[in-house]
Amino acid sequence: MFKLPSALMAAALLCVGPAMAADFGRPATEAEIAGWDIDIRPDGQGLPVGGGTAEQGEPVYEAKCAMCHGSFGEGVDRWPVLAGGEDSLTEDKPEKTVGSYWPYASTLWDYIHRAMPYTAPQSLTDDEVYQITAYVLYLNDLVEYDWELNQDTFVEVEMPNQDSFFVDNRPDVVNTRCFENCADPAALQVVGTIGGVSPTGHFKEDSGVASSHYGDDAPTDEGEAVAVALSADAIAGEATYQQACLACHGSGIAGAPKVGVKDQWTQRVAQGLSTMVEHAIQGYQGENGYMPPKGGHMNLSDEAVAQAVSFMAESSQ
Ligand code: HEC
Ligand code: HEC
Repeated sequence: MFKLPSALMAAALLCVGPAMAADFGRPATEAEIAGWDIDIRPDGQGLPVGGGTAEQGEPVYEAKCAMCHGSFGEGVDRWPVLAGGEDSLTEDKPEKTVGSYWPYASTLWDYIHRAMPYTAPQSLTDDEVYQITAYVLYLNDLVEYDWELNQDTFVEVEMPNQDSFFVDNRPDVVNTRCFENCADPAALQVVGTIGGVSPTGHFKEDSGVASSHYGDDAPTDEGEAVAVALSADAIAGEATYQQACLACHGSGIAGAPKVGVKDQWTQRVAQGLSTMVEHAIQGYQGENGYMPPKGGHMNLSDEAVAQAVSFMAESSQ
């Protein structure tokens, strides 16, 4: 049974008053479910009626995608590369693109429809998604320029790397589960950590595994992550950071200053918090790259963005 998200529900309860409070929730309407049920399966199930060719997609892609992904899908600066990389998967530095790596064309349709353009997700019409999908496939030499991709022809697309994906058959995924006389979880020790990935923050503070949320002992690429005492604003801003800013500032893509790397923040912090907050809210073109207004998440309040800036700056000192 689908339930309304709690915030909506709280609002609904306020409207109808306490008399209904015991009758919590209601079945989601068809329209509400349809809004969430947008996944496209590998066999094309879920595709809406519509269609388009690479030829039609080219101008749309140029206008809405090329500034980040490049006119040929080569990726501008460090934005993701969408085309090329054939036969590179077994090399030291594999180039994983739609053509070289992705097993299903449905992922492309679904991803563009759901998440792109990066700063305005779900703003494309279904036909535009078909057109652009055809164009990205064309950039990967997988379809002809004037071939129409639609809900029926979709199954004709063959992705080169499809057969390399198979169900994991390594021994550790087929172990039988333990229900009695199992090892005591408290006695298990993590012997290796990967910076930013291993959940060291979830260990007990005195376990000696990690003393801070970011894991003092977690190896990092650049410099050392040090535990810092955060202000109340910064603590409040962490969730916003994770949701809206980490995509760029966690890894430093496209020139974004990487959180935790002091050098990249010293000068920025020196301008003063209010300048940084203004830049984060209104967006700006800097020397290293483009910071979109609110990181592209226009639904965020100014206060939430300001708190995220505090979190980022304080975590980088
Ligand atoms: C402002 C820059 C920007 C624009 C404009 C943009 N993208 Fe993206 N795109 C990104 C970023 C950043 C990612 C990686 C997102 C992530 O991993 O969470 C991405 C990921 C993708 C991917 C997945 C790549 C992979 O290998 O994982 C596809 C496909 C894609 N974008 C297509 C498009 C299309 C099509 C458009 C135009 C409708 C578009 N993008 C517009 C920034 C952009
Ligand atoms: C699409 C990638 C992207 C996202 C998402 C993003 N940023 Fe940025 N941000 C950048 C880039 C690139 C710069 C560096 C621009 C420059 O100075 O050249 C930057 C710079 C900044 C700066 C430094 C400003 C200054 O004055 O030096 C702050 C603060 C900042 N971002 C905050 C945020 C916050 C808060 C969020 C989330 C709400 C966020 N960013 C999300 C790309 C991004």
